[in-house]
Amino acid sequence: MSGAGPEFHVRPAEPADAPALREIERAVVDIGAGVVLTPEDLGDDDACHEGRFAEKLGRLAAGTGCSLVAVSGQRLAGHVTLERYKPVRLRHAALLDLAVAPDFQGHGVGQRLLRDILAWAKSEARPPIRRIQANVLADNERAIHIYQGFGFEIEGTRKRFLQIADGSFVDDHMMALVME
Ligand SMILES: CC(C)(COP(=O)(O)OP(=O)(O)OC[C@H]1O[C@@H](n2cnc3c(N)ncnc32)[C@H](O)[C@@H]1OP(=O)(O)O)[C@@H](O)C(=O)NCCC(=O)NCCS
Repeated sequence: MSGAGPEFHVRPAEPADAPALREIERAVVDIGAGVVLTPEDLGDDDACHEGRFAEKLGRLAAGTGCSLVAVSGQRLAGHVTLERYKPVRLRHAALLDLAVAPDFQGHGVGQRLLRDILAWAKSEARPPIRRIQANVLADNERAIHIYQGFGFEIEGTRKRFLQIADGSFVDDHMMALVME
C-alpha cells in the first residue's frame, strides 16, 4: 500500500509536538500491535505522559540524538527517535524508536522517517554513529520487513519476551544496523 496515500513532509520534532506525540502513542497502544505497553501502562495522566515526551525532546535537542516527525496537513502522522546510549563507551550506538499513527500506516510514512533518520545518523560526527539498535516483537512483520529493507539484521531473539492477555507469549528480536 506504500506510495499512494496522504501527502506528508518530514521535519525535526519540536517541544510543541509533545501532545501530538502522546496522541500517536496512545492510538498505537490502544490497537496493541507491535508494542509492549498497554493502555493500563500508559494510565490516564496525559500531562505526565506529555511531560515524558517533552523531556525526551529536550534531551535530544541538547545533543543525545535526533527526533523527526512526519506532518500531513495539521496532523502529525508519525515520528522517529534516535538516541545515543549515555555511557562514554556506548556513545557510538543509538536506540531507534518508530511509530506511525494508525490511520497513516501503510502509506510509506514509516519508511520515509527511517530513511531520513538514517541520513541524519550518517551525518553525525560527535562521535560518528556506528550501530543502531531496534527491538522488534517477532510478530511485527511489517516493522521487520522495513528494518531489513534498510540493512538491519536480527542479532538475537529474546524468547517469551511478552505475555499477552490470553496467556500466550511473543518473542522479541534484537535488530541492529552496523554502519561503516
Ligand atoms: C511498523 C510501522 C512503523 C511501519 O510504518 P508504516 O508507515 O505503516 O510502513 P510503510 O507504509 O512505510 O511500509 C510498509 C512496508 O511493510 C510491508 N508490509 C506491510 N504488512 C506487512 C506484513 N504483514 N509482512 C511483511 N511486510 C509487510 C509493506 O508492503 C511495505 O513494504 P514495501 O514498501 O517494501 O512494499 C507502523 O506500522 C507502526 O507504527 N506500527 C505500530 C508501532 C510499531 O510497530 N513500531 C515499530 C516498533 S519496532
